Amino acid sequence: MTTNDLKSALSSAGQAHLWRHAESLPSPHRDAFVGRLLDLDWEAIPDLVARYVTSAPPVATHAGLQPAPYYPCDPESPQRPYDAARFRRAGERLLAQGKVAAFVVAGGQGTRLGFDGPKGCFAATPVTGKPIFQVFAEQVLAAQRRHQRAVPWYIMTSPLNHDATVSFFRRHNSFGLSPADVRFFQQGVMPTFELGTGRILLAAPGVVATNPDGHGGSLRALWDSGAVACMKSRGVEHLSYFQVDNPLVNVFDPLFIGLHAEAPDSSAQMSSKMIPKAGPGEKVGVFCRAPTHRGPRTVVIEYSDLPAALARETNPDGSLRFQAGSIAVHLLSVAFVERLNTDPAFALPYHRAEKKTPCIDPETGSAINPTAPNSVKLERFVFDALEFCGSSIVLETRREDEFAPIKNAAGVDSAESSRALQSARAARWLASAGVEVPLKDDGTPDCTLEISPLTAASPTDLRGERLPTRIERGASLAL
Ligand code: UD1
Repeated sequence: MTTNDLKSALSSAGQAHLWRHAESLPSPHRDAFVGRLLDLDWEAIPDLVARYVTSAPPVATHAGLQPAPYYPCDPESPQRPYDAARFRRAGERLLAQGKVAAFVVAGGQGTRLGFDGPKGCFAATPVTGKPIFQVFAEQVLAAQRRHQRAVPWYIMTSPLNHDATVSFFRRHNSFGLSPADVRFFQQGVMPTFELGTGRILLAAPGVVATNPDGHGGSLRALWDSGAVACMKSRGVEHLSYFQVDNPLVNVFDPLFIGLHAEAPDSSAQMSSKMIPKAGPGEKVGVFCRAPTHRGPRTVVIEYSDLPAALARETNPDGSLRFQAGSIAVHLLSVAFVERLNTDPAFALPYHRAEKKTPCIDPETGSAINPTAPNSVKLERFVFDALEFCGSSIVLETRREDEFAPIKNAAGVDSAESSRALQSARAARWLASAGVEVPLKDDGTPDCTLEISPLTAASPTDLRGERLPTRIERGASLAL
């Protein structure tokens, strides 16, 4: 597109203010700004604005929605018995062959936590205050030691936090990992639109306001960055996908990997883990079986989209009918990621969110600090890729073992609640290894405990460790 084409493209896209702004800039800044405008996809933007910004897409009716089937935690449950030992062996085999890599999405803005920096740098563990990234790095290192081979870890950042993330790893010597096994890449961004008008906002003179394009952008970024090519050259076939907010995540779970790869009803493209929801209002997506134009599919309905009446429906035994809460843990095959990027039929939809975005007035240049939402951000969600799988399995896991997210500054899903859950899991693991752990009346540990993934990735790893016979009330202990 030439500069002249750009002028008319902006005008027909309802974005003429950007051209007027360009003209008001001194020439070197003008050229740079025009260069950045030329990078935007002016064929797609008018349609996106019409579909998602100036009007909200129609609310889905969710007619015919059913709870998604899942493999229960207990493999002997009459609900759906399965040969857990066989699938665990299959998962161990794939791990030992180096066919599974770790993949964390860490490009989000983390606004709710109010922490000034990438969320992965946040001090998360209850005794030593290890940053979340270190907890994951120790899981990768433990897997490398266990399988006696390099295990790569892919980390998606965004332009908001890329440099800070990379320099954090550099300062900490990649937490003992070889830099060759830690690969960073950035996700894409979307322009941020003005609520109501759909005009693209300006963050500063000559700077378009943008936002990361959602964790669904990871599927494109894995491809564009060359990460998929890197995986193929290293023989990686499956990605263990997780979010940066959960220090209890089990990155290399042989049972999950084996079910994903070999369960008869799995296409081995994309699989998921769930926990029973704590209540109808818990803010987690829910796995459902939905009629789609590709046929019935397992999908995630985000908490904000699940009608309250459905969220409250119960089974005869009183449990929630739509109870399969997503902990945002998936396995994705590299071949599936490749297909999503090479077949134009697989385009993920966008989701809109109304947000407060500080910006400048494009005509006067004066700063605007909104007190109410003034913008629409468009994001893609990774779980929308589930619809493109032929079939997809869901495995139930135990909340207390694998889910302690840090999302909010206080209260539910905060650093405080996460540390308590981490300590409680360590207490259970130690008690199962025969250590006497003091408990309070409510059953929570009367001490603060932390177990490094390098010491144990599961309770069985504690066998053979030198452990205390008992822990004093009020003690703090890191193993
Ligand atoms: C998310 C899920 C929800 C799930 C819950 C479990 C969505 C929309 N919802 O909720 O279904 O039950 O976690 O904890 O995802 N990220 C990026 N780039 C982006 C945006 C986000 O990398 O552009 C990353 C964040 O760094 C974070 C993760 O995605 O690791 C989650 O993002 P967030 O928007 O905080 O999702 P939640 O509302 O917590």
